[in-house]
Amino acid sequence: MSILFDKEKQTFTLQTRSTTYQLQIGPLGYLLHLYYGRRAEGCFDYLHLPRDCGFSANPYELQDDRGWSLDTMPQEYSGSNGADFRLSSVEAETERGQIGADLRYLRHQIRPGKYALNGLPAAFDCGGECETLSITLSDAASGLEVELLYGVFEAKDMITRAVRFRNGGDQMIRLHRAASACLDIPFGSWELIHFHGRHTLERQLERRALLNGIQTIASGRGASSHQHNPFVIICEPDATETAGTCYGVMPVYSGNHRTDIELDQSGSVRIVSGINPDGFSWCLAPGQCFETPELLLTYSAEGFHRLSHTFHRFIRENICRHDRELAERPILLNSWEAMYFDFDETKLLNLAREAKDLGVDMLVIDDGWFGHRDDDHSSLGDWTANPRKLPHGLKPLLKQISDLDLKVGLWVEPEMISEDSDLYRAHPDWALTVPGRKPAVGRNQLVLDLSRREVVDWLHETLSGLLRELPLSYVKWDMNRHLTDLYSASLPADRQGELAHRYVLGLYELLERLTEEFPEVLFEGCAGGGGRFDAGMLAYCPQIWCSDNTDPISRLSIQYGTSFGYPVSSMGAHVSTAPNHQTGRTTPLGTRATVAMSGTFGYELDPAKLTADEKREIREQLRRFRALSQLIDSGALYRLTEGGKPPFTAWQFVSPDQGQTLLNIVLTNPEANPRPLHICLRGLDPDVEYVLEDCAFYGCDAAMPAGCTGPITGAALMYAGVTLPPMLGDTPSAQLVWKTKNG
Ligand code: DGJ
Repeated sequence: MSILFDKEKQTFTLQTRSTTYQLQIGPLGYLLHLYYGRRAEGCFDYLHLPRDCGFSANPYELQDDRGWSLDTMPQEYSGSNGADFRLSSVEAETERGQIGADLRYLRHQIRPGKYALNGLPAAFDCGGECETLSITLSDAASGLEVELLYGVFEAKDMITRAVRFRNGGDQMIRLHRAASACLDIPFGSWELIHFHGRHTLERQLERRALLNGIQTIASGRGASSHQHNPFVIICEPDATETAGTCYGVMPVYSGNHRTDIELDQSGSVRIVSGINPDGFSWCLAPGQCFETPELLLTYSAEGFHRLSHTFHRFIRENICRHDRELAERPILLNSWEAMYFDFDETKLLNLAREAKDLGVDMLVIDDGWFGHRDDDHSSLGDWTANPRKLPHGLKPLLKQISDLDLKVGLWVEPEMISEDSDLYRAHPDWALTVPGRKPAVGRNQLVLDLSRREVVDWLHETLSGLLRELPLSYVKWDMNRHLTDLYSASLPADRQGELAHRYVLGLYELLERLTEEFPEVLFEGCAGGGGRFDAGMLAYCPQIWCSDNTDPISRLSIQYGTSFGYPVSSMGAHVSTAPNHQTGRTTPLGTRATVAMSGTFGYELDPAKLTADEKREIREQLRRFRALSQLIDSGALYRLTEGGKPPFTAWQFVSPDQGQTLLNIVLTNPEANPRPLHICLRGLDPDVEYVLEDCAFYGCDAAMPAGCTGPITGAALMYAGVTLPPMLGDTPSAQLVWKTKNG
């Protein structure tokens, strides 16, 4: 039993392998948060002593008892317009203008299995691994019921949370804020780690102190965004990769999100996370329900590696629906950086032959194959073959490619519409626009109103038609602008605040229907690179194009930041040409592969432009990746240095049985008279002997010195480390594989 209710103490204790989470039905039915941290037995109400804090009001029923206030006691899910002046989790308003929520315990239930959410992606139980706790609170004035849902995955150290609101009153209730979870951390000193960025430089790690007041990580762009990933970590100031306490908070949501973190007058931290309340509202008629997106919560007392490993495993096994079926990902060659819009049937067939000759598994035809699209000004919405480029249509072309024994993938951008398209000419009202106002254009396109049933149905019919007709193994699902001009012709005036969330629900419904109908097709998410890299999209798309920046040196910090929350198997990464199209930098071909091999691996170049030597090198890369892909996909990732920081970046994969490890190193800042290149490995069996099985240096003339070639113990590799030979050259790299001696 991972969820225990103690009748006498009125506590709920959620136990996972290494953590304990405890709540209590406190005085007057307020639900208090007692503890979340390292696994421990007991009742933790002794931690929270009553104290008379000036200007912290007390519940009416307690009258003269000034020692107990909602403003100072740790709350499980904060209300509003009451005595708790800290961040609220729910803001509600009735028809009669009763604003706020005073939430008190009503009932609870503990049951086996995982709760489900209607129309939202959520973690699933792989078979007897989860228990659900549901606690319903209610606000007497409005009749609003707030059901807090907890999924406890004991063996995986993960607690999922979500909230179901129900209007149990007799008047309309409007929600203005409906957070997925609130987490009070009453003691300690903390820092915030979050992942910010921009197009072509996503998920850059930033770590800062939590100072008094509120810090906010949010997106109001209609997508989880390049700018602020929804994932945050709260950690002790001295937490490192290998030691220290940290909490990970990850919304399973792809739309407008917001995580507020408040350090209050008592030194207590409150985290409130979920749908961004800015511009949001949701009307609940009597009897109606609203469910929030899910939130993943984990805790590590052993630093960030442990935290990341927990998320990696959980996302692969309990979030990515088709991850298992699609465990072996194809190595693909994508036409985008090879040809952009400039292709036709002959060029694509030549590209396919070249791809086959190199030895990749799949050709992906990117943007430009439909309507009359020659650049980004037209045709989004017209998902039929471009007659000028592909006069015989897609089907014969794809058959010819398949006949080469090559899989085929296709790019689409279903959520968008070009004004120059037949779809727009037929349905101009399907685009998001505010009546009387010219909409903003992004990349010359408008956004389809996915809150409308007919739009989702039309997209489903069109895309499932393509998938039925064509021999496709893969779909790249792009989104190249954010949402503006939010207004839906299908919603009444008082429900326009629901549009941004309804858009995401429409997107999820479409993805749900397509991925259920075509489980053998791999969907790769993309939003101008990694602009919608989140656990919600990962439920449908087990891999997401990490960034439009394919420069391996830029990728070091992008993939490093991404890896804190998301597994390597989810990160789309390709080898592209040099000089790089985004940065102009020239790097060795081997270094580009070293970095791309820490992702789903593929190519984004025209093989016809390669020399014979480069082709030989690529064939060797394919051989190496195939030999290592299982280790990379399912091994534990250890970040040995900060990604992208000079003088070098090193990271390592260790197989689940500790029998094999791959060390990668990229020199970002070649130096004259360099200091020794010394690295300590991690995660190995200290008592076992390893031998160097494979070793490759790229962009430099170096060989592995005897000594670390083995046999060498795991203890020596981890505690004494290895000293690599000098690697002189422009951004050289190395890949070193050790295996147990008898492995
Ligand atoms: C943005 C994507 O990230 C690119 O890989 C490419 O597919 C283009 N869109 C195509 O328009």
